[in-house]
Amino acid sequence: MKLTNIYDTYTLNNGVKIPCVAFGTYKAAQGDNVEILRMAIKSGYRYFDTASFYGTEKYLGEAVRMSGIPREEFFIASKLWKDEMGYEEAKQACRRSLENLRMDYLDLYLIHWPLPKPDHTEWKDLDNRTWKALEELYEEGKVRAIGLSNFLPHHIDNLLENCRIKPMADQIEFHPGYAQAAAVRYCQERDIMVQAWSPIGRGRVLEDEMIVQMASKYGVSPAQVCLRYALQRNVIPLPKSSSAERMKQNQDLFSFEISREDMYRIDTMPQTGWSGEHPDRERVRIQ
Ligand code: A2P
Repeated sequence: MKLTNIYDTYTLNNGVKIPCVAFGTYKAAQGDNVEILRMAIKSGYRYFDTASFYGTEKYLGEAVRMSGIPREEFFIASKLWKDEMGYEEAKQACRRSLENLRMDYLDLYLIHWPLPKPDHTEWKDLDNRTWKALEELYEEGKVRAIGLSNFLPHHIDNLLENCRIKPMADQIEFHPGYAQAAAVRYCQERDIMVQAWSPIGRGRVLEDEMIVQMASKYGVSPAQVCLRYALQRNVIPLPKSSSAERMKQNQDLFSFEISREDMYRIDTMPQTGWSGEHPDRERVRIQ
């Protein structure tokens, strides 16, 4: 399918339509939270990705209400944090997120991480109990779709063996220099929509020589190369920015196409811009 603008959608495995580009709200929100989110709405974004951990839910809800645009025109995703895992905990977490947003449903609800800590030995059972709550929230209509975040194939295998309702999405770190091919392939083969957090590699990828050269070849910015790369891999990018100009630039992804050769070059470039986060490891501090 040829995408032509950020409002074009993919269809999740439960039939729900999801826009092909989102706006990430993690730390977008330092400074004047509501103002940044209002600016993002004004610049055109309708799909917003938040999480209880980000602390941006209530600002997002406020920005949406202030926009005067009907709730149904937005696609709002949130996530439950590591300390909100478990059956009862997940139900309460969803209630809290809806209260923070002052909304009566979410479009997508995700488990933020598969393990609360890398040495948590009972994670399979914890994931399954948490997932059961998400299945029920979905059946009750509190959330239109349910999914995962930072789950790798071995984590998803466990859920697929035990779930009644299959996850509809998995949000992972994905950008040139950290394209997680095994996880992307695993999800796409199972019709689980992949979403990219840090799609421009927290800025470090933007200085990569090959990415800079490609940007000049296509007449776009390095950030646009990164976001277009995600689109061409059928991955939904969630760029974040606090500048109106870059918010706009990050939507301008449909007037150029990265060649097949260049896509392979990006697929195979050395690891660049990794955040240092991995569900099975202690956080690595990267300068
Ligand atoms: P800023 O808010 O100043 O625009 P990621 O989502 O990969 O973690 O990266 C987020 C960072 O990338 C933000 O700090 C943001 O800074 C910056 N950024 C977002 N869009 C662009 C762009 N088009 N060009 C350069 N930097 C960008």
